[in-house]
Amino acid sequence: METTASASSKAILFGEHAVVYGYPSVAVPLPEIRANAKIKDIKRKKVIIDMPDFGKTGVFKELAWEHPIRFAVDLFLSGHKITLQNGLCLSLHSEIPIASGMGSGAAISTAVFKALFAHFNIPYTAKKLSELVFEVEKLHHGTPSGIDNTVIAYEQAVLFRKDEEIQRINFPKTIHLVIANSGFTTPTKTTVSDVAWLYENNSTSVTDTFAQIEQCVILGLEALLLGDLEKAGEMMTENHQLLRSLTVSNERLDQLVDAANSFGAYGAKLSGGGRGGIVIALTEAEHVPFLKHTLLNAGAEACYSTKIGSE
Ligand code: PMV
Repeated sequence: METTASASSKAILFGEHAVVYGYPSVAVPLPEIRANAKIKDIKRKKVIIDMPDFGKTGVFKELAWEHPIRFAVDLFLSGHKITLQNGLCLSLHSEIPIASGMGSGAAISTAVFKALFAHFNIPYTAKKLSELVFEVEKLHHGTPSGIDNTVIAYEQAVLFRKDEEIQRINFPKTIHLVIANSGFTTPTKTTVSDVAWLYENNSTSVTDTFAQIEQCVILGLEALLLGDLEKAGEMMTENHQLLRSLTVSNERLDQLVDAANSFGAYGAKLSGGGRGGIVIALTEAEHVPFLKHTLLNAGAEACYSTKIGSE
């Protein structure tokens, strides 16, 4: 038997970092860019993990217990009291750039869990899936807010706040985003712990920044729901400046944001953990190819585009 599953990547439109401290955040799935998992029964009584994108193929038991894939499979098998009778080969392939703010880790775990549920014929809910992925996210991030596993497991635009029910968002008008990968990466764990350091050492000013980020989230989402792209873009750029003051931007990301805005995008910001990874820019459909070109000229390593909401 062979089962396959996939999971989308994601982008955070507003509110990263502040979301770790209980503030709201808006994230959207990027269904075009995905992680894929395939599980095949094999005769050898072993679990083989085949990850050609990561240059690895090997026996599961030889991976460190805290390896995210081993951890995910162990969590699934022990949680469902499954003892393997035969061997399995788990193959992973992902189109999502790693450590780039697009939720690569959460998407790979989501694809693995979906494939396992399908393979063992176990029904599941998006909530259950999200909870399992969250456990793996803790290995990647230390103190994840839960936004990545939520937006990816539900594959749904969400207004997310820690420890609260998620609110699904349906955008009334199609939103066109250009996503520019800076080609630099910094682990999310690093930027999250740098913000924590700032917070511990200057809590009044950082709390004020989080409150301003919250305003960007509220006003930006309201503008998107009203189809006011100008205001939404303004809030994205404002959110970027606030993230910059939290030290999670860098020169390349600032250049990409400036290039998008000089081109005439409604607004732009870094998305995700920052200090590398992606910049997202809000624009009109007819400007997408030119904006991509502009961002590539401004130093982006790769550009994607996506449509969110109904046409
Ligand atoms: O870098 P990513 O894609 O994992 O996004 C992280 C978002 C943060 O707010 C920085 C961290 C979190 O856990 O919410």
